[in-house]
Amino acid sequence: MSLNTYYTLGRSGLRVSRLALGTMTFGTEWGWGSDEDTARQMFNTYVDAGGNFIDTADLYTNGTSETWLGKFTAERNLRDKVVIATKFTFNGEPGNPNAGGNGRKNIIRAVEGSLKRLATDYIDLYILHTWDKITPAEEVMRTLNDLVASGKVRYIGLSDVPAWYAARAQTIAEYRHYEPVCSLQLEYSLAERNIEREFIPLGTQLGMGTMVWSPLASGLLSGKYKPSESGFTGEGRLDATRGIENPAFQKISDRNWKIVAELETVAKELGHSMAQVAVNWTVNRPGIASVIVGASKLSQLEDNIKALDFDIPPELANRLEIVSKPEQQFPYSFFDAEIQGMINGGATVGDKPDGYQLNVLSLSAGAGVS
Ligand SMILES: NC(=O)c1ccc[n+]([C@@H]2O[C@H](COP(=O)([O-])OP(=O)(O)OC[C@H]3O[C@@H](n4cnc5c(N)ncnc54)[C@H](OP(=O)(O)O)[C@@H]3O)[C@@H](O)[C@H]2O)c1
Repeated sequence: MSLNTYYTLGRSGLRVSRLALGTMTFGTEWGWGSDEDTARQMFNTYVDAGGNFIDTADLYTNGTSETWLGKFTAERNLRDKVVIATKFTFNGEPGNPNAGGNGRKNIIRAVEGSLKRLATDYIDLYILHTWDKITPAEEVMRTLNDLVASGKVRYIGLSDVPAWYAARAQTIAEYRHYEPVCSLQLEYSLAERNIEREFIPLGTQLGMGTMVWSPLASGLLSGKYKPSESGFTGEGRLDATRGIENPAFQKISDRNWKIVAELETVAKELGHSMAQVAVNWTVNRPGIASVIVGASKLSQLEDNIKALDFDIPPELANRLEIVSKPEQQFPYSFFDAEIQGMINGGATVGDKPDGYQLNVLSLSAGAGVS
């Protein structure tokens, strides 16, 4: 697998690389990003390796991320080749509630700002950044459908929303003949596997390709942080964001140190960096369409891109599975083999064979049917 092997995103005709380039680090405004030259080198390295999928958001580094992405794309004359994903929801104008959120007034305001900063007349994938707990899914879907019809947006996605909201949005699109959601964007890594319970089946069933963020848990899984009496030592984003309560930056826990320790031994046996193994694990999990890699230095991006070059043998993958397995939770515990066996009368129900619509029951002799 390499960056110039492209897959269609969800139930759409959009071809994207299995690793997307994250640009939340394009700009120094937040204290842990990169300067313009480094960001340009990362952009060029990614596209020169064949990568075509680039993720940003209107307020990343207060707008610098979009501005630089637009500039680097124009410098290389690559607008037709790259697939630009950007997002709206967050508010950059204190005191004005309609300069954020997912209402129509903000979406239309936000898309104009992104188009300007990106110096383009269309966005390939326009993503609702997070649920605002207010706006009805009908309003969001109608507005996004109108943006597609206007030509300003090609495809639409949802990020960091409850599963029920995404399912409702997609069902509204289906029955009202609106543009469907072709992608879900969510956090996923060895340290954060909660989306496996609900979102992965949701995406595969309803045609939404899951693209995932923070595959290194903000750098923790690179192995550069070590536990200490003061919590941890090591330089990087996690150090710069100490004390910030946002859960996206709270990665230190006993459970995660155990995952880091097992990842370290697995990476040593494989002869690859911990970051490469962590990204490789993420990209090869069921239902994952694309993994957004982030970097603050060119060497990190070069390291992470090599994650596509090898396979993790089953025995080592199993060790990572055991140490990172999410806890059982209701009602998902009801969908595991034991209770399903009680439902199926002892029969094994297989996945659908290719080309078949119905489940096929393969009944064992013990079930009394031949
Ligand atoms: N939809 C959302 O809500 C959402 C949220 C977050 C991110 N995202 C997207 O996902 C992208 C990736 O997220 P992320 O940046 O959090 O990903 P990540 O892979 O978890 O963390 C990336 C950070 O880890 C460190 N790192 C990366 N590679 C390394 C390596 N090989 N060795 C050592 N350290 C390394 C760097 O930080 P330091 O050098 O500072 O340590 C880098 O900035 C973002 O750019 C953004 O596009 C989306």
